[in-house]
Amino acid sequence: MPIPNSVQTAINAQIKNELQAHYNYLGMAVHFDSTPYRGFAKWMRLQATEEYGHAMKLYDFLSDRNGRVELTTLDAPKTTYDAHPLDAFRTSFANEQLVTAQINDLYELAQKEKDFATLQFLAWFLQEQVEEESTVLLMIERLELVGNDPAGLLRLDDEAGRRVAEAPAPASGGGK
Ligand SMILES: [Fe+2]
Ligand SMILES: [Fe+2]
Repeated sequence: MPIPNSVQTAINAQIKNELQAHYNYLGMAVHFDSTPYRGFAKWMRLQATEEYGHAMKLYDFLSDRNGRVELTTLDAPKTTYDAHPLDAFRTSFANEQLVTAQINDLYELAQKEKDFATLQFLAWFLQEQVEEESTVLLMIERLELVGNDPAGLLRLDDEAGRRVAEAPAPASGGGK
């Protein structure tokens, strides 16, 4: 079944949203790279890579459905945040909540269009958003707990720096 036009348009919009998320996280990495928090810089950079992966997952899915990928302009990301790491992580949480709402809207549209293949494909993204929101929220809670204690902040930074890249997301189909 060809992908409905409305769904194709919405998936293209989501490719842009994920690339924008990629760029926003890269902006946070730039910020942390100008502070002593190099662990958070690494964490943000890995997160940026994940977001790029999300965009490419949507790209491959659209391509597999014989759709047409549209690429558009991104906004320059913010690269300066407050000295306390909470500022960047709170921004990240707000961004993740926005992406969750975007995925939910996309899911609702696919449901309305009875585009079952897209619905199944999007289930992975719904789960991913649950994970992303909970990871960032935990970081915020721990940062709030340590407050301005340098030892605590450096400990969290150190831990964030040990984050490793996730296994690549499963391919959308076609054995890719
Ligand atoms: Fe994402
Ligand atoms: Fe995300």
